[in-house]
Amino acid sequence: MSLSTILGIESSCDDTAAAVLCNGKILANITATQTVHAQYGGVVPELASRAHQSNIIPVIVMALEKAHITMDELSAIAVTQGPGLMGSLLVGLNVAKGLCIAKDLPLIGVNHLQAHIAALFIDRDIALPMLCLLVSGGHTQIVFVSTPLNTEIVGSTQDDAAGEAFDKAAKLMGLPYPGGPFIDNYAKNGNPLAFGFPDSQTKEFDFSFSGIKTSLLYFLHKRIAIDPLFLEAHLADVCASYQRQIIVSLMKRFEKAIQHFKPASIGLTGGVSANSELRQTFLTLGKKYAIPALIPEFEFCTDNAAMVAMAGYHQYLNGDYTSLSALPYSRVKQP
Ligand code: KG4
Ligand code: ZN
Repeated sequence: MSLSTILGIESSCDDTAAAVLCNGKILANITATQTVHAQYGGVVPELASRAHQSNIIPVIVMALEKAHITMDELSAIAVTQGPGLMGSLLVGLNVAKGLCIAKDLPLIGVNHLQAHIAALFIDRDIALPMLCLLVSGGHTQIVFVSTPLNTEIVGSTQDDAAGEAFDKAAKLMGLPYPGGPFIDNYAKNGNPLAFGFPDSQTKEFDFSFSGIKTSLLYFLHKRIAIDPLFLEAHLADVCASYQRQIIVSLMKRFEKAIQHFKPASIGLTGGVSANSELRQTFLTLGKKYAIPALIPEFEFCTDNAAMVAMAGYHQYLNGDYTSLSALPYSRVKQP
């Protein structure tokens, strides 16, 4: 059997990543997470592009070295083409194009959201069709996955993404960016039923998370006006209650979608799938419907290049190559 060896490159937001995959197996997965944004409480696009420029070659070299693969052994280069920050995407795409020209390799432009779904296919077989809950910093979607290359978005957020709801709440509470992991950690010692936060009205399988963040803002103003030390005293309970409502809102729509689409398996992916409570709740949902509930390994949940290489591998087998004149795209586009 001939070897299909793919170099994957990811630079859509604030992680510079490279991975090597051989016949569907990950040989190396390297991520340089940019810390420069923490002091600003969010990603600063210009700083992200500059950090990608400094990190990208060392990260690719490290991935190839760790995989014991030379550029001459590669079959193709897969790179995130969009959606994401334009300046960030340009760095990865242009480096990938340069390497493809130098080594006469096919270029494979990958959709970042397809890559999050492809993360579920790493190192396992999946019963299809799968219904996938994709929850990241920029997107929240329910995706019906007939095959890795044939997917349909059946629900999405009307405003903020679930990850944004975590990050904006963390900012209101004075926690560092990105706030999701901090809320997750504080919530472990809190009572999820201590305080109530509202769900929004949406149609069918759609989500809305801008209201919950605003309700947290008013809740904190009111409580802190009465007791200036309220947040210090109740941080764990606030985090646990807020996190619980995000999970309830996600699961309510996703469960409705399971009943409607009757999938053979369910998948949870995207950065928010690193959330410990959400993972538990998701696994319980799989048991309730007696179907496999899949979540990627922790290192493949938040942005990484292994998932890009995996999506690229599926496209490579399908002969789905990208022109060297292709441009990045910043907004969601269905492949
Ligand atoms: O997929 P990702 O790495 O980047 C995007 O494509 O957006 O997702 C990043 C998001 C951030 O909003 C971050 O706060 C959230 O994932 N996140 C978490 C956790 N770990 C990362 N949210 C909740 N709990 C976590 N443990
Ligand atoms: Zn992502």
